[in-house]
Amino acid sequence: MLILIYPMGAPMELNMEKVPGPFSDSKNLEKARFLKKMNLYPFFRPIEDSEGTRVAIRGKDKPQIMIGSNNYLGLTHHPAVKEAAIKAIEKYGTGCTGSRFLNGNLVIHEELEEKLAKYLGHEMALVFATGMQSNLGALSALCGPKDCMLFDSENHASIVDSSRLSLGATFKFKHNDMESLEEQLVNNINRFKKVFIVADGVFSMTGELLKLPEVVALAQKYGAMVYVDDAHGIGVLGKEGRGTMHHFNVHDQVDFNMGTFSKSFASIGGVISGKKEAMEHIKHSARSFMFSAAMSPSAVATVSACIDQVINDPSILQKLWKNVHMMRTGFAQIGLYTYNSETPIIPIFIGDEIKAFQVTNFLYDHGIFCTPVISPAVPKGEALIRTSFMATHEKEDLTYVLEIFKKAKLELEIPGVRH
Ligand SMILES: Cc1ncc(COP(=O)(O)O)c(C=O)c1O
Repeated sequence: MLILIYPMGAPMELNMEKVPGPFSDSKNLEKARFLKKMNLYPFFRPIEDSEGTRVAIRGKDKPQIMIGSNNYLGLTHHPAVKEAAIKAIEKYGTGCTGSRFLNGNLVIHEELEEKLAKYLGHEMALVFATGMQSNLGALSALCGPKDCMLFDSENHASIVDSSRLSLGATFKFKHNDMESLEEQLVNNINRFKKVFIVADGVFSMTGELLKLPEVVALAQKYGAMVYVDDAHGIGVLGKEGRGTMHHFNVHDQVDFNMGTFSKSFASIGGVISGKKEAMEHIKHSARSFMFSAAMSPSAVATVSACIDQVINDPSILQKLWKNVHMMRTGFAQIGLYTYNSETPIIPIFIGDEIKAFQVTNFLYDHGIFCTPVISPAVPKGEALIRTSFMATHEKEDLTYVLEIFKKAKLELEIPGVRH
């Protein structure tokens, strides 16, 4: 049941109460308690069972249609992918119990790296245990005390956090704004030894693409290097899902490409690719690579099987883009504002934070699982519902999702424009 007991748009701080304890000054804790009290807390929903596009949640009698995952290709439940993972467990066991640097380096890690280098069109690839660790480790290893990084202002948290570990300097440019990037290049190119432009290939909250051709042109003009976080592009964009740099046909002008396996590749882990010398440097310097255990055998085999699937079965990407087209058109017909998304991530602008939680609840009560995105992941007052679509979604489910969004727009007065 949707409980509308909170005045729309009123600042959340009003009803927040402090509970004594050593972390009583934690704003995050305060906010979580407040949302639970209001019956609006949408996080940590316990999934009991999953078929990919449908999930059973503890305490809910009906399965939910999942439109809040990053499982774009729907490969988490593909029989060939599951079989590959099971076989790897049978051969190597469940874990590597150590860093690849020391005792955890399996032949299948190296085979996967060779496959990824070929797939991405770069000289060498290196796999990490997670995408977050890939960014933290690679960027802090690359950007030394005499170097600097130029960040798009909407970069993922794992890039932002790498600046805390790097000994170099960091400057931000306005989101996808090439004038602002050029200004930062002019200001910094002669002050630092190496300058890295670092940006998401696909922005994870809005589904928008980085203006990569313009970025590489500016990098060449000023002699900077380009590092793309393609967590949401790999598997989805470009020929056979080779990612954003292939979508724009500039892979030979991108110095470093990062990808995760926690999305299209149905597992967990991350990859950095680039020129051999730079990759060997990362391999022998990135602390999150050297001082953390290796990707598990089942994860390695899963990723390898996913790459085979997306290359050998073109119907997967065809079905994905058909579904994405259906939803983009459907949302526009309903009159919802969906930003400039060009990917399977389709954000719905809501604006007010409380309303975003109420819409999430409304959908949840109608059997649809998706997630609200609030500040600081997006600017204050620009809360959204992040929907994302999969190759395995069936048309009837998507038609139902559109029907419920139409109802939600009317009942909860979702704005049709971004203000
Ligand atoms: C753009 C981006 N980069 C990096 C990551 C981190 O990836 P992982 O989940 O593999 O740690 C994510 C995941 O949320 C992401 O969206």
